[in-house]
Amino acid sequence: WPERTLIAVKPDGVQRRLVGQIMQRFEQRGFKLVGMKMLQVSEELLSQHYQELRRKPFYPSLLHYMTSGPIVVMVWEGHNVVRTSRIMVGDTNPAEAQAGTVRGDFSIHISRNVVHASDSVEGAQREIQLWFHRKELMDWDCYD
Ligand code: CMP
Repeated sequence: WPERTLIAVKPDGVQRRLVGQIMQRFEQRGFKLVGMKMLQVSEELLSQHYQELRRKPFYPSLLHYMTSGPIVVMVWEGHNVVRTSRIMVGDTNPAEAQAGTVRGDFSIHISRNVVHASDSVEGAQREIQLWFHRKELMDWDCYD
């Protein structure tokens, strides 16, 4: 497979009608959308997704935030997509995120940082398996 990553628009991004603008950035960069769904996420799924964060002091508020409304989860594919997406999304802390990044343009606080992006190729593979069934991922061709 070409490289793939998991991108999620978190509840604040959906509530603020930012889904289209965020997707547009990935499309115009040249990445290929291979999976997408909207869901109200369970605490069970989140505890697997955020398995390294379960003991952090902010974990309860992270759960509350991430279950405060539906999210849009996507799989994007392309050359270096994991690293490039992290750059496009910007620093986890919006105060450190460059203007021109999603978080740098749309957020001010770490606990409302609009998007998730996998942090490594291995992490992306784990997250994609967690969030998507194999048949939900489209293997479609580009005419290039
Ligand atoms: P993300 O990197 O997508 O995944 C982990 C999330 O935990 C992170 O985004 C933030 O939303 C949240 N997070 C990380 N650190 C803190 C913190 N210090 N306070 C509150 N939330 C945090």
